[in-house]
Amino acid sequence: MNGSPLLLDRAEVDDRSEFRDAVLAGLEQRPRAIPAKFLYDSRGSALFDAICELPEYYLTRTETEILRRAASEIAAKAGPGCALVEYGSGSSVKSRLLIEAMRDLVAYVPVDISRQHLDATANRLRRDYPALRVEPVCADYMTFDRLPVDLSAARRRVGFFPGSTIGNLTPAEGTAFLRRARGLLGGSGAMVLGVDLKKDPRRLHDAYNDAAGVTAQFTLNLLRRMNRELDANFDLSAFAHEAFYNPVEGRIEIYFRSLKPQTVTVAGRSFAFAEGERVHTEYSYKYDDAGIALLARNADFAIAETWTDPARQFAVVYLVASP
Ligand code: AVJ
Repeated sequence: MNGSPLLLDRAEVDDRSEFRDAVLAGLEQRPRAIPAKFLYDSRGSALFDAICELPEYYLTRTETEILRRAASEIAAKAGPGCALVEYGSGSSVKSRLLIEAMRDLVAYVPVDISRQHLDATANRLRRDYPALRVEPVCADYMTFDRLPVDLSAARRRVGFFPGSTIGNLTPAEGTAFLRRARGLLGGSGAMVLGVDLKKDPRRLHDAYNDAAGVTAQFTLNLLRRMNRELDANFDLSAFAHEAFYNPVEGRIEIYFRSLKPQTVTVAGRSFAFAEGERVHTEYSYKYDDAGIALLARNADFAIAETWTDPARQFAVVYLVASP
């Protein structure tokens, strides 16, 4: 991470050029957009962890509470001898609820794009559950369709995709993701999916416009990352975080917006920004029951069970592969 580029290992060089190519392509296109996955460098991941603690950001604590109540039912549905495959091994608190409920797990397979994050997660879990076989897989879960580990001992493969991370994907991308997961988990497979629900737009707006400004820092961290990794010269005080609910599309849209006309250099290229011009960074789609059912059906899954909180803010669904 630190040090001169010459000291980077091969994987970091690949990551760096992937970031550069995506940013240059994203700033050249109209409307401008940079893929959300680049928000998660180590500072971005720490800021996201802080978001999860915010009073306005109800998602994490609501989902954790639902999982706490549903874990034993999920374990009973899945049955004994499962392998648990977690997509984007984020908050280990949630994984632990399932790992502890599914006592006789054959393996826990965290899939994450960050090698660092993955190693840390795997080491903590091995320490805390010495009997558990932990098989980390470093991959982008959007393109990942083959398991490089032998799970033939497992009766069933159960996917876990919490946090409403599926909301970052468009419904078409979400369907494609679930289809790939369906293929990887197999005919006896199941998927535990966390989905944020449509609700009072005010509540949604506040969750992405917190009073402490942590979400703004999270968005603007992308500019900081471009400055550091791509030799860019974004003035962080000349751009602002913007997030709003689009009720027609049923999604939060997040951008950074130029506060004045300005030119920025990124990796040796020059980009002019008009005052008010914005760059898209994230969608966060919100679903209702019908939307979740459609998503599942389009990916050849069927909903076996849905758990929600009393205020119906968030849903955890148990999907089974359709024949
Ligand atoms: C990790 C995609 C679920 O959409 O709520 C939170 C990301 N961005 N605040 C979300 C996010 C700004 C988060 N997901």
